[in-house]
Amino acid sequence: MTNLVSENIPGYTLLDSGFGKKLEIIAGVTVERPSPQAIWAPRLSEGEWKKATSVCIRKSDGGGTWQHKNKEPQDLVLEWEKLKFKLKFTSFGHCGVFFEQQAVWNTLVRETEALQKELGRPIKFLNLFGYTGCASLAVLSTGAEVFHVDSSKGVLTWGRENAELSKLDTKKIKFVQEDVRGFIKHSLRKGFKYDAILADPPSWGHGANKEVWEFEQMIHEMVTDCYNILNREKSFFFLSSHTHGVQSEALRNIMNDHKSKKEIVVGELGVRHSNDPRILPAGIYSLAKNIV
Ligand SMILES: C[S@@+](CC[C@H](N)C(=O)[O-])C[C@H]1O[C@@H](n2cnc3c(N)ncnc32)[C@H](O)[C@@H]1O
Repeated sequence: MTNLVSENIPGYTLLDSGFGKKLEIIAGVTVERPSPQAIWAPRLSEGEWKKATSVCIRKSDGGGTWQHKNKEPQDLVLEWEKLKFKLKFTSFGHCGVFFEQQAVWNTLVRETEALQKELGRPIKFLNLFGYTGCASLAVLSTGAEVFHVDSSKGVLTWGRENAELSKLDTKKIKFVQEDVRGFIKHSLRKGFKYDAILADPPSWGHGANKEVWEFEQMIHEMVTDCYNILNREKSFFFLSSHTHGVQSEALRNIMNDHKSKKEIVVGELGVRHSNDPRILPAGIYSLAKNIV
C-alpha cells in the first residue's frame, strides 16, 4: 500500500476535523463543511470553529446549503504550480477543487512526463468524470493532448475558464459533454486509443442525457473497456473511488482482472492537517503502470 497524502497545498489549510465536519481556510476564507469520514473529536476549541465565515449545512437529501456571515466570497482563485483554478461555493459543499487530489495531480504529472520521455512524444490522456479540470490542466501543462469528459455543461465551462486563466494551450484539450460509458463505447467502436486514463467516478451520477451511473454495478465493465482503449505500446491507468465500503484491495482485484501485463499500486487518498499529523481520509486509488 502506498498512500497518496496531500499536504502543504498553496492557498489551502486543513485546520481541524471531527464530529462529521472539517474546518478549512480556502483562498483566505475560513470555511466549515460536512465531512462524514471525521468520526473522531475535533482538536480546536469551539471559539476557533466559530471563526468560520462560510458554513455549509448538510441537507437531508445529501446536498448542502451555504451560510455566509459576510458577503458571499467572490473571485476566489487557487494557484497551484503555474495553474489557476476558480473557486465557487456550490451545492453539496463543493468549491470546484477537491484538495485531496493534489497528490494525484503530482502523480499524474510524474507518470505523464516519464511516459512522454519513454515514448518520445506527447501522450493522449483521457480524464473521465473530469469535473472542473484540475487534473486535466495539470497533465495539459506537460504538453500532453487531453480529452476531458464530464456530463455537466456547467463544470466543462468552468474547466475551460480555468484553462484560459492558467494561460494553457487550449487547442490541445477537448472538453466533451457526454456520458462516460457512452464516450468509452464510442472510442471502442471507432478504435480510438489513449496512452493514459484517469477515472475518478462518483458513487452515482448521471450522463449528459440522464444515463445512470452506479459505481458498484458498472465499475467492472468500465475498467475492462478502459483497458481496451489503452495503447499497448505502454500506458497507465489511474482509478480512484469514494464509494462507501469499497476498499483498495477491491480496486486492485478489478484492475488485475484484465489479462494485460502491468504493475499495480494501491492505497488511500487523504489530506494532512496543517497543525497536527492526522490525515483526513478521502478515498482510495489504484494505479496500473507499464501496461503492455
Ligand atoms: C466527484 S466529481 C469528480 C472530481 C474530479 N475527478 C476532480 O478531482 O476534480 C464527479 C463528476 O462526475 C460527473 N459525472 C457523474 N456521472 C457522470 C456520467 N455518467 N458521465 C459523465 N460524467 C459524470 C459529474 O458531473 C462530476 O463532475
